[in-house]
Amino acid sequence: MSSLSSRLSGQMVLAPLTRGGNLPFRRLCAEFGAEVTLGEMIFARQLLKGDVIERARLRRASNEQVFGVQIATNDVEEGVGAAKLAAAAGADWVDLNCGCPIHEATRRGLGSAMLRQPVRLERLVRGIAAGSPLPVSVKVRLASEGGDVNVREVVGRLRAAGAAAVTIHGRTAEARYSKAADWRLIAECVEDNAEAGGGMPLLGNGDLLTQYEAHGRMAQSGVDGVMVGRGALIKPWIFKEFRDRRAWEPSAAERVAVYRQLACFMKEHFGDDAKGRRKAWYFLPWHFDFLSRYRPLPEEELPPAPEGTAPLERFLAHGDPSVHERVAAALWEASSDAGAVAALTRLAEGAELAALARGGEEGEAPVLGEATELSNIPSDGAQASGARSGKKHRRARAPPVVRTEEEIAALRAARAAKRERTGAPPHHEGRAAAQRG
Ligand SMILES: Cc1cc2nc3c(=O)[nH]c(=O)nc-3n(C[C@H](O)[C@H](O)[C@H](O)COP(=O)(O)O)c2cc1C
Repeated sequence: MSSLSSRLSGQMVLAPLTRGGNLPFRRLCAEFGAEVTLGEMIFARQLLKGDVIERARLRRASNEQVFGVQIATNDVEEGVGAAKLAAAAGADWVDLNCGCPIHEATRRGLGSAMLRQPVRLERLVRGIAAGSPLPVSVKVRLASEGGDVNVREVVGRLRAAGAAAVTIHGRTAEARYSKAADWRLIAECVEDNAEAGGGMPLLGNGDLLTQYEAHGRMAQSGVDGVMVGRGALIKPWIFKEFRDRRAWEPSAAERVAVYRQLACFMKEHFGDDAKGRRKAWYFLPWHFDFLSRYRPLPEEELPPAPEGTAPLERFLAHGDPSVHERVAAALWEASSDAGAVAALTRLAEGAELAALARGGEEGEAPVLGEATELSNIPSDGAQASGARSGKKHRRARAPPVVRTEEEIAALRAARAAKRERTGAPPHHEGRAAAQRG
């Protein structure tokens, strides 16, 4: 391929996402203009042993223009072997995972554990880069632990080792998602890199949920491009927004069409039969843990909604896994977008009536970090059909609230009064924060 550097420049890259970055989802992102995508993390050792699930992760969708395979390894031979298989499968480059914080990876000396030994990491990357037929990039965090932030040293060493690019996720592994990404440190790495002669592209990653944040961070920090994870899981159209430099606020019906597109891509990929549905079911309902976090304009700024829209909006925003199952099933069964909207509206209205009968209370706002406690590392041989089972913590959530017009008016008045008292910004300015949970 032409140099990886030129392909990454100015791009919003789809992050490697275990479970989330399945082929149909990446295809959807590519439809929305993602030009550079990374697949789900692959354990090099399992891949070389011929593991069918890891092998399947090498596949790219036909519309993925520049496709990278992410591997986890701490062994040169394994890394080179995996890179050769990635090359044979048609990947454009290989990315080494040095950011995974989960215990199952770090206790084996993989992922973010490698950041504790920068000299060893440099040797590893030099060895893999020398033997790999593809360019080798590395994805790092600020450090493994908060007290030992060494990202500047690590990036310098990766440069010396011949890394083709480095992505910096602006948090430590220890912090998980509890703190905001530190873009100041990312900018310092950019300065160091320029002083060392430039040439090796740096991508910045962390908390980019809107096109204006992505463009702003890119301009302020000087990174060559940005990488987006949760922003894409919540709104796969973020790539279109980035390219258009304009937000797209799709209606509930427009979002249903996007979600049905994902269901259709899953049918094509896994099969439009019972077996295909079983395989797809590991992914499709899961996606709604993120897709349901999309918030359109706050209620008070929406134009008057046509009859029946509000229940659908609330249904699509629901955080309960049982609702995600029902949304996924309706999308899978619908034969048209209009049919999907009608089926989901019926379900939404039914759910609200049921909640009303129970005197339901408002569901908790979803917590964005929650669905990230995921692993594709086998846990005692447990395997789900089509993919590996992952550890996941979910809270039970209450059904959506149903309010009378009077209650809504009173709530709005109370909110406005509170804003006046506290000097808090209007709701829409806090929207990106709200999407973060
Ligand atoms: C569901 C999920 C799965 C992830 N899987 C991986 C992975 O396999 N490899 C990796 O390097 N990072 C993984 N990450 C981290 C993301 O690539 C990204 O660095 C992180 O979410 C911060 O970016 P964001 O703020 O845009 O989400 C994952 C994140 C999420 C939410």
